[in-house]
Amino acid sequence: METAQQAESANHAAPFGVLPLSDALGAEIVGVDLRDISDDTFARIRDTWPQHSVILLRGQALDEETLVAFGARFGELGKVLNKHNGRSRLPGVMYISNVREDGQLIGALPDGEMFFHSDQCYVERPSMATMLYAMEVPKRGGNTLFANMYTAYETLPERIKSRIEGRLALNVYDYDNNATQRGSEPREGIPSFAHPIVRVHPATRRKALYVNRLMTHHILDMPRDESEALLNEIFDHQERPEFVYEHVWTPGDVLLWDNRCTLHARSDFDASERRMMRRVAILGDKPV
Ligand code: SIN
Repeated sequence: METAQQAESANHAAPFGVLPLSDALGAEIVGVDLRDISDDTFARIRDTWPQHSVILLRGQALDEETLVAFGARFGELGKVLNKHNGRSRLPGVMYISNVREDGQLIGALPDGEMFFHSDQCYVERPSMATMLYAMEVPKRGGNTLFANMYTAYETLPERIKSRIEGRLALNVYDYDNNATQRGSEPREGIPSFAHPIVRVHPATRRKALYVNRLMTHHILDMPRDESEALLNEIFDHQERPEFVYEHVWTPGDVLLWDNRCTLHARSDFDASERRMMRRVAILGDKPV
């Protein structure tokens, strides 16, 4: 059996290459060690990313410093908003983990399934990208699923496209304890922000759906029952399997995803198994 170290050296020794991950989206980049990349290699990664929306690099060994250094090459790192962030040494680093020490969680978003969402869509300037590095993963499950919001928009029936054209929807952060439940009516202290239902990606100029089952509460200026029925129809459409790539993690994997044109979700996993990921996010612009 190949050891992680052998896989790491084989991956890094290969020439730079791009291998599509699925028909929906995503590409694996091989031949790169993120601890030591030249400006030219970084430019090739950056230029590969918009076409695939999600980039995977396997066999990496990243501490907080190297993850932050790689993330910062894409732009200013976003603030960590989650309260379970005691473990990180560097600002901008967040741990996603179900591990508890002395009964206390050491990371955020600990257990089980999470509905599809886009990171920080409930603030004025959400993360444009998120980078997740796998440290420990369960034997089964805890996969991250990515859905392509360009194709989800492009394949919407015209009757839905015309109903959402130019409209805003309110996104709410209210899932700390249950990430399989839609956010409730915004309350005092619960972050929320209204963004366009369809946004234009600033780099590709393509239109992408920008609502999601976990955080989008209602469409503005529309009766609530109408908004609810329309959103449910959009949620079911945007999560269709043909738009989705499901990533089964191996320790050492790094995924970089574009929150402006993808949604992500997490599959359930055994709560008795350890899952630990290190994460940074890159600040984006206000969606238009
Ligand atoms: C997230 O939504 O950022 C977490 C994804 C994961 O834990 O796989």
